[in-house]
Amino acid sequence: SKGAYEFYMLKEIDEQPGVMRHLSQNYLDNDGQPKVDSKIIDAISKADRLYIFAAGTSYHAGLVGKIIFEHYTGIPTEVGLASEAGYHFPMMSKHPFFIFLTQSGETADSRVVLKETNKRGIPSLTMTNVAGSTLSREATYTMLLGAGPEIAVASTKAYTAQVALQAVLAKALGERLGNKEAKNWDLRKDLAMAAEGIQQLVDGKEKLKKLADKYLVKSRNAFYIGRGMDYAVALEAALKLKEVSYIQTEGFAAAELKHGTISLIEKGTPVVALINDPVTADLTRGNIQEVVSRGASVIKIVGKDFAEDGDDIVLPEINYYMSALLTVVPAQLLAYYASKDKGLDVDKPRNLAKSVTVE
Ligand code: F6R
Repeated sequence: SKGAYEFYMLKEIDEQPGVMRHLSQNYLDNDGQPKVDSKIIDAISKADRLYIFAAGTSYHAGLVGKIIFEHYTGIPTEVGLASEAGYHFPMMSKHPFFIFLTQSGETADSRVVLKETNKRGIPSLTMTNVAGSTLSREATYTMLLGAGPEIAVASTKAYTAQVALQAVLAKALGERLGNKEAKNWDLRKDLAMAAEGIQQLVDGKEKLKKLADKYLVKSRNAFYIGRGMDYAVALEAALKLKEVSYIQTEGFAAAELKHGTISLIEKGTPVVALINDPVTADLTRGNIQEVVSRGASVIKIVGKDFAEDGDDIVLPEINYYMSALLTVVPAQLLAYYASKDKGLDVDKPRNLAKSVTVE
């Protein structure tokens, strides 16, 4: 039940620290070693390439997963929209392994890809929140998110659970493959830091409400920009805001704005900039200057090392490869407050259903 909450979405955002702790307990032992069915690791360690398929928010979790898998396992990883792959199957490597990300386990677009996957005899794993769901039953293997029921149409805790569970799998797989980064990775500590960090962010939700009221509620449009991991999160942040607030929003690779879209920036256009990547932080700052000089109102969500002024939303410290777990939370809160303060039904945005069982 919603308890004291007006909407499930905020309840589910607030539950994310618990989801991280639960996932850590379920999937890591006391020494921080992953507890993943060895059959899954046997199968996937034979793969020369991973293919992640999903839709919507789960697709965005896959974009984060690609970065994590490639860093900690060294296996090239592709991420695709299930709806695009179903009837135009991608070129395959010799030994592909497919991963399906799906909160509901019922998404029709993903089921089409899995059917074809099975027809071709490609091994697969579904990461889902729903035990016994169709995509879970039809894939070779399943890993459960264990995020608890997600009721709000806009997905929040399932996204962070998908990111964290992909990290568990990457650690297990990377260790099996002898990857040094994976061996040295204290994932248990990272998940504990994620839980604490998310807690700090949700405790500071009033600041996000103020920013949403000041910059978003009255705006017709908004942009999210970032590079690397932050680009992946920018796409999810933009989807979250548009689906619940009806503000037209786009997520962009920060440098791409100047290749066309910057013509949309006017006085007061909200631009939310995400910075966690030390390699590209200065470049993104340059892109922020470009939009500021054209009148944009910039909200910055930045890692601890990149804070510049008091208005920045500063993220608690975390491993860059896990930073999506923190960066997304202020974006979820901005979306929530933009919707609520516009007087909308946050949990049931128009035209949307919780699980999309048509193609
Ligand atoms: C957005 C959202 C959708 C779903 C998408 C896939 O907040 O919830 O974009 O992520 O419909 O659903 P699942 O994960 O159930 O396959």
